[in-house]
Amino acid sequence: MSTHTQSESPELVSVAQKICRSQRTVVLTGAGISAESGIPTFRDSLTGLWEQFDPLELATPEAYCRNPSLVWGWYEWRRMKVLQSPPNPGHLALATLAAQVPQLILITQNVDDLHERAGSPAVLHLHGSLHHPRCFECHHPHTLAPGMPEEPEGGRTVPPPRCSQCCGPVRPGVVWFGESLPSLAWQQAMAAVHHCDLLISIGTSGLVYPAASLPEIAHKNNTPIIVINPAPTEQDNIATHIFRGRAGEILPQLLKLIPHHHRSRSM
Ligand code: OAD
Repeated sequence: MSTHTQSESPELVSVAQKICRSQRTVVLTGAGISAESGIPTFRDSLTGLWEQFDPLELATPEAYCRNPSLVWGWYEWRRMKVLQSPPNPGHLALATLAAQVPQLILITQNVDDLHERAGSPAVLHLHGSLHHPRCFECHHPHTLAPGMPEEPEGGRTVPPPRCSQCCGPVRPGVVWFGESLPSLAWQQAMAAVHHCDLLISIGTSGLVYPAASLPEIAHKNNTPIIVINPAPTEQDNIATHIFRGRAGEILPQLLKLIPHHHRSRSM
């Protein structure tokens, strides 16, 4: 294992070659890939959401039952921030890469839609989405009004809308602490990781399970793991290559090194 920060370092070239040779690439992203779009991560010191807000008051089913308006208002504030934020060069590089390699399966822990807005097809959302709320009681999907939510500041309470089917309260479509992951997305992610020949982990601390077990599974299968992150992570000890930098800088540099004959997918 070695670490590089310089642009076009021998290690960047070697990883670009690995990507070119890969037949089945898996990319796992976390909050760090959206940081350069202006969306806060969870655990970065000072700026992380869990540094400023208590997850036990905002990210559990019990918290929602105690104070639905506080929880709904907080997630509407986060949705507003996402709607105001454009995809960054990291998201865009991944979308381009997907069209240049035989197979790229993108698994994200993020609840924003910036990968989709960057053009990535078929993103597996392990932790749900801010954009797909559902009824707390009957689970019927709720259609959000188009445009910006009214909530202007984090912390203001907003009563949740009512379900069109059963009149129950609508909840954010995200996975909370103590809840299971969406089973189809998780099964597809597990299958993709079992079959991949390269895993690239970007912008995740690797602290939250079961998502954090995906690189571990790849490692057990002797699959090379690339980590892109400006700070140390829990996956560093199993990484084949570590790029200590921002996703929005490293990914475009990698993309530049993918030779042109790889730039069209064979049909
Ligand atoms: P964390 O906040 O735990 O970690 C964010 C990671 O992004 C850190 O390792 C940072 O060093 C890294 N980072 C920051 N800026 C970056 C940049 N520009 N480029 C690349 N990396 C950067 O976020 P996650 O690992 O995504 O769960 O957290 C996992 C889950 O914990 C989240 O999905 C969320 C949270 O509770 C749910 O919402 C269910």
